[in-house]
Amino acid sequence: MTITEAQIEEIIELEYNIHLFKVKSPEIANVINPGEFLNIRISDLPIPLLRRPFSVCDVEDDFFYLMFNTMGMGTKLLSLKKPGEYLDVLGPLGNGFNFEGDFDRAVILGGGLGVAPFPYLTRKIKDKKEISTFIGGRTKSDLITYGLENIHVSTDDGSYGFKGNVVELLEINFDNLKNDKLKIFACGPTPMLVAAKKFAEKENIECELSTECVMACGFGICQGCPIQSSSDEDKFLLVCKDGPVFNSKEIIL
Ligand SMILES: Cc1cc2nc3c(=O)[nH]c(=O)nc-3n(C[C@H](O)[C@H](O)[C@H](O)COP(=O)(O)OP(=O)(O)OC[C@H]3O[C@@H](n4cnc5c(N)ncnc54)[C@H](O)[C@@H]3O)c2cc1C
Ligand code: FES
Repeated sequence: MTITEAQIEEIIELEYNIHLFKVKSPEIANVINPGEFLNIRISDLPIPLLRRPFSVCDVEDDFFYLMFNTMGMGTKLLSLKKPGEYLDVLGPLGNGFNFEGDFDRAVILGGGLGVAPFPYLTRKIKDKKEISTFIGGRTKSDLITYGLENIHVSTDDGSYGFKGNVVELLEINFDNLKNDKLKIFACGPTPMLVAAKKFAEKENIECELSTECVMACGFGICQGCPIQSSSDEDKFLLVCKDGPVFNSKEIIL
């Protein structure tokens, strides 16, 4: 883990107000793994006080990419940055995806901006594993396909692709996939993660969930990001340190 000043090389505006920052930092780019995250100090001013966590979206040579939309003050200020400006970056943080294991096909499930960590995962595994990607959103403008492969889409309102949620979309495609040894990688809103966990456990498929919560320190000091362990109901794990990626059987959502 390091704190570094990383220069914004390029800003790419994807559709529907999604920002993609290409940021130069060999210190981060050479060591970070898919699913790990960075805690970014947005401003030199005391507000916002806390750093904001972002997944590493992709890595290319000495550059890492961040993908975000504007939620509140932190992401609004971030969206106003210009190429050439520097970001105060703490990372890499957390545990990433375990993608080296014994499976033939990665089933990637992304809900809304939950697709953010998957371009990098896709880049890392596409020459070794088959990939089926399922992305979902409330409506067509929530669908982000950047950096993904073999994509199936769903929208809650039926404005594009399958009408329903992304786990239902996986269920109706499951007959075409189930002869492969599968592993599910999911990131998105908690109800989507709950459905993915239930489906994976019903079908006995190994599944990793990338979880989210509001964070402060980002590395296990403040105890501000607990998630309940399934092994002991009195035990809590920390999203920032033990996660954000967990085996679905490890946690209660
Ligand atoms: C491990 C991790 C990885 C993340 N990766 C990305 C990413 O790649 N791209 C991206 O756009 N966002 C990502 N997020 C979420 C991002 O950190 C928040 O959107 C950001 O902190 C919001 O800051 P803000 O100042 O704009 O909003 P705030 O003013 O802090 O909050 C605005 C609203 O969003 C809610 N909120 C804030 N953080 C979260 C959160 N983590 N989950 C749910 N609701 C939240 C607040 O409660 C509030 O209602 C990630 C979060 C975590 C924990
Ligand atoms: S954010 Fe401080 S312990 Fe997790």
